[in-house]
Amino acid sequence: MRVIKVVKKMQTMARRWQSEKKRVSFVPTMGYLHAGHESLITAARRRVGRSGVVVVSIFVNPTQFAATEDLSRYPRNLEGDLAMCRRAGVDVVFAPSNEEMYPSETVEFSTYVSESFLSQSMEGISRPTHFRGVATVVTKLFNIVLPSVAFFGAKDFQQAAVLRKMVGDLNIPLTLVVAPTLREPDGLAMSSRNAYLTPTQRTQAVVLSQSITHARQRVQASPKFLLSKTLSKEIEHLIRQQPEAEPEYIEFFHPDTLVPVTKILRGHHIALAVRFGATRLIDNGPV
Ligand code: PAJ
Repeated sequence: MRVIKVVKKMQTMARRWQSEKKRVSFVPTMGYLHAGHESLITAARRRVGRSGVVVVSIFVNPTQFAATEDLSRYPRNLEGDLAMCRRAGVDVVFAPSNEEMYPSETVEFSTYVSESFLSQSMEGISRPTHFRGVATVVTKLFNIVLPSVAFFGAKDFQQAAVLRKMVGDLNIPLTLVVAPTLREPDGLAMSSRNAYLTPTQRTQAVVLSQSITHARQRVQASPKFLLSKTLSKEIEHLIRQQPEAEPEYIEFFHPDTLVPVTKILRGHHIALAVRFGATRLIDNGPV
């Protein structure tokens, strides 16, 4: 496995793969890798086989964090991440510095990619500059790694939707694959941010996946539609039974357009964000 930290080197290697007609399967991450990331890496390898190349990027992207957010305390463990990538059979890890990705010796970085419809609800309300940062860094990474296929997790459903729209709208020549959410045995979606939780909060955090299960059971059991106002209230109540949990949003929407629905039907989607002290967790699923 090779570790590349310089943009130009990564791009030169990617161009060579392209001229050799090698398929490049790409998993962008911010590191602190867990089994959820590993499942994307496994899917990436399966997609291109032994004759293809698997690239993982590890970069905690500053432009997707607001000034008030957890950029400086975002968990990092490059050595552990590299060990996991080696075990998983990754060919190249691209791990650039901030200076490599956002050089500032002349005029500071000033070109951004913004998706302006799917990015406006849910996470976009709570974190107004977040998806602009994500779309920008992922475009940069695509231009550096030149992948034929890129993998994202359904755990970040809105992120995957925004990036799929970006790839379509901008005719970026690759296939975007969304892989299922990997969960802990109790149902908590795996996330690098779970590391912030105190043991008490960790126990209470199971309420996110319980909320999705509750919504699904209610929708499946109801002969007609359910009002999203009614079900949101029920779920808010369920969340507030956990003393440290503070719900931020609970939304029901159409999975293709992310447009909120007032009447919930099977096949619609729920997404929620819940705070435990300074830690913010998200989850989602079909109902
Ligand atoms: P990060 O949070 O490190 O996640 C990297 C990828 O792993 C994302 O596509 C995310 O959806 C996926 N992932 C995270 N937890 C998962 C789980 N439990 N099951 C399955 N997949 C999971 O998302 C980002 O980084 C960044 O925004 C990035 C796209 C790299 C741009 O900076």
